[in-house]
Amino acid sequence: MKWMGLNELRELYLKFFESKEHLCIKSFPLVPRNDNSLLLINAGMAPLKPYFTGQEEPPKRRMADCQKCIRTGDIENVGKTARHGTFFEMLGNWSFGDYFKEEAIKWAWEFCIDVLKLPEERLFVSVYEEDDEAEMIWHEKIGLPMEKIFRMGKEDNFWEAGIDGPCGPCSEIYFDRGEEYGCGKPDCTVGCDCDRYMEFWNLVFTQFERHEDGTYTPLEQKNIDTGMGLERLAAMMQDVKSIFDVDTIKAIRDHVCQIADCQYGESDKKDISIRVITDHIRSVTFMASDGILPSNEGRGYVMRRLLRRAVRHGKLLGINGLFLKDIVKTVVDNSKGEYTELEEKYDYIVKLLTTEEENFNKTIDRGMKILDDYIDQMQKNGENVLDGEACFKLSDTYGFPIDLTREILEEKGLSVDEEAFEKAMNEQREKARVARGGSKYMGADETVFHKIDRDFHTEFVGYETLECDCEISFIATEDELVENAGCGEGEFYIVSSKTPFYAESGGQVGDIGEITTASGKCVVLDTQKVVAGKVAHKIKVVEGGISVGQQAHFAVDKKNRKAVMRNHSCAHLLQSALREVLGEHVHQAGQLVDANRLRFDFSHFNAMTPEELIRVEMLVNKYIFEALDVTVKEMPIDEAKKLGAMALFGEKYGDTVRVVTMGDEEPASIEFCGGTHVDNTSKIALFKIVNESSVASGVRRIEAVTGTGVMNMLKEHIDMTRKAAEVLKLGNPAELVKRCIALMGEIKLLEKERDSLQTEISNMKTQAIFDSAVDINGVKVVTAMLTNIRPDMLRKMGDEIKAKQDDFVAVIAGVNGEKANLLAVAGKNAVAKGAHAGKIAGKVAALTGGKGGGRPDSAMAGVGDKFKIDEALDKVTEIVAEFIK
Ligand code: ALA
Repeated sequence: MKWMGLNELRELYLKFFESKEHLCIKSFPLVPRNDNSLLLINAGMAPLKPYFTGQEEPPKRRMADCQKCIRTGDIENVGKTARHGTFFEMLGNWSFGDYFKEEAIKWAWEFCIDVLKLPEERLFVSVYEEDDEAEMIWHEKIGLPMEKIFRMGKEDNFWEAGIDGPCGPCSEIYFDRGEEYGCGKPDCTVGCDCDRYMEFWNLVFTQFERHEDGTYTPLEQKNIDTGMGLERLAAMMQDVKSIFDVDTIKAIRDHVCQIADCQYGESDKKDISIRVITDHIRSVTFMASDGILPSNEGRGYVMRRLLRRAVRHGKLLGINGLFLKDIVKTVVDNSKGEYTELEEKYDYIVKLLTTEEENFNKTIDRGMKILDDYIDQMQKNGENVLDGEACFKLSDTYGFPIDLTREILEEKGLSVDEEAFEKAMNEQREKARVARGGSKYMGADETVFHKIDRDFHTEFVGYETLECDCEISFIATEDELVENAGCGEGEFYIVSSKTPFYAESGGQVGDIGEITTASGKCVVLDTQKVVAGKVAHKIKVVEGGISVGQQAHFAVDKKNRKAVMRNHSCAHLLQSALREVLGEHVHQAGQLVDANRLRFDFSHFNAMTPEELIRVEMLVNKYIFEALDVTVKEMPIDEAKKLGAMALFGEKYGDTVRVVTMGDEEPASIEFCGGTHVDNTSKIALFKIVNESSVASGVRRIEAVTGTGVMNMLKEHIDMTRKAAEVLKLGNPAELVKRCIALMGEIKLLEKERDSLQTEISNMKTQAIFDSAVDINGVKVVTAMLTNIRPDMLRKMGDEIKAKQDDFVAVIAGVNGEKANLLAVAGKNAVAKGAHAGKIAGKVAALTGGKGGGRPDSAMAGVGDKFKIDEALDKVTEIVAEFIK
């Protein structure tokens, strides 16, 4: 067999199906679109579901591609065996109601024999046990002997993914890798668990749709869905043991070994770590290139887990310091030919992953310490299950991943109380779910709009005009199509074949406005893209009623739309300015532009400094003042790329793209964009940043205003300064700062004066107290009650008395609002004669229902009932007398 490289195999496959008139497309991003059932694309057919069900018309009825996939069903097993990987590429060829079983089988066979040159005698197939037709094709048309065709049950030969979606019986092709890969059992054959008969190509005859309730309905059209794991195919063609020995993946594996200074195949334990790192870094690199960000939820969490697992296994191999970025380079080098986004986003990918790696190192250090304490405790107490609360706290409060906790415990023969942990997690999830609130109807999977004919499309005419006349083709409620909508009946959706209303996309909000017919008037509250090229106007009838079939006048709210356009165009200038000031790693990570403001999220790893913000603001305003022409042109994607047009992360573009350019020679901005824009940057008028903040690790957010937004902000500020000036009785607001500085000085001076007056008063009060002293055997006793005195001032007074008056015992009650305290102090001589401040304070306080005590020379006590203070103070002389010898 001829050795073939992984990249070469991909090319051969696509070329072959191109020669069979398939439209070969680029891989879809890993992030599913309009599919809530999936976190990450996990099969070639996943992004194509609407073509199978017939909801959408494919660009061609025969297609093929090589799709990036991630499957994380059993992360814990990845690495443990050489069979599992999370990231893989799936070669697939499809027919959407075009060819069926016979061609699918014939071409698969032709590819195996003529292109891969696989020896026929080593190929076997399986078919679904009830599929006579497939068996007949293999036997009669291909000429495979019956003993090489295995019938298998639903478990093996009926392909379906998840609880719903297109599915059907399948036929699989197996390759006999030879005895040396086998288990040696006498009954070892196709279907055996060992590595000898390798199933490498799955031909699915997609005829059914599975529903959530477990029922199946036949699809209108018969389809073909095939899947062949590229890495697996390469392992087979290169006659190597596992995917980790395949050329491009081995390069990554070798690099890991080089960094860890070890050899693959020397130790089982190390091999696990090497495989984990090799696989996981592939996954996270591709995820990053598709715009996924590490987070604590959904696919972001999958990414975070994979990255963290790789880092931890790096530590197990004894790698010190940051190492992901070096290996990322090898991943990129080996795949950039097909996945150009890897190279285009290289700097960004490295920065993102390294930041996350750094943060995780910190988290690990902290979490490990806590876990070590737990483990110590467990070992001391002879326990071997870590309680669920502790695990949850580690994961929830300290960000220490549960799978790590599990693994570390496992290594020590300990485990997690899974049930209790699960319970704590569920409570947390429930809280989060409640906090999130209801889901948005228009974003849901199956909607009322699926009831409309698939080929019905809405043409958008709103680039050129803001008004048009068109028939109302459909009116819908949340769940059914209706004929009429009336005033006061709530919200409806109108679908028409043409509209000037922009449907929300690319972060630009949907248009608002009015739709009127001869019999009624509606306000349009929002406009959204719904299924397959249809646009729905969310409306409320405000006068009369409307009906399907009526002619209507569609009018966009011009003022609103113009404000939105200013903000959208300005977001382009902002991206440009950010790249200029901060660097090329800045990419749009999300945006929202409406009539009031623009919110722009972008990749950047530190908070912006005030200087950077000012520079960006100045630069954007410079572009505005230069009055740059804005031009929009459709062009082939390659041409747009050559121009250096900025594209969105993880976005799949068609062959023709819409490019928005601002400025002529050396344009200020060139971006792929479907939004609506001003025709000259001067129309943005002004730009002002309102806020800069963090949204996620590695993502910053700028909120800003333009045009009238800046005017409104200015007005608010001017009103505020005017009011402040009025309050300060200034004729001219320009004097505000000067006046504030002067006032601050005055306040300081007054505070000083107040303090010295207070000291004087308290001295006078103390003097008055001494003047009224009662003598008991040479010890002078004084009492006093002072109001508005804080405990610290009371204490200070006591210290002063004690220091100066050796013969005195003083008991002073200080009342401060609702609270009151008692202070007792005794001078040196008084103590010598038997006075004890702590005991005296206790006794006096007891008379008010309070308590306290302290040292012989000084003590504080709390007062119970402050109305009993007078009475208690009257008893002081008596109490002191008890102590004096
Ligand atoms: N969709 C089929 C699979 O993933 C081809 O195996």
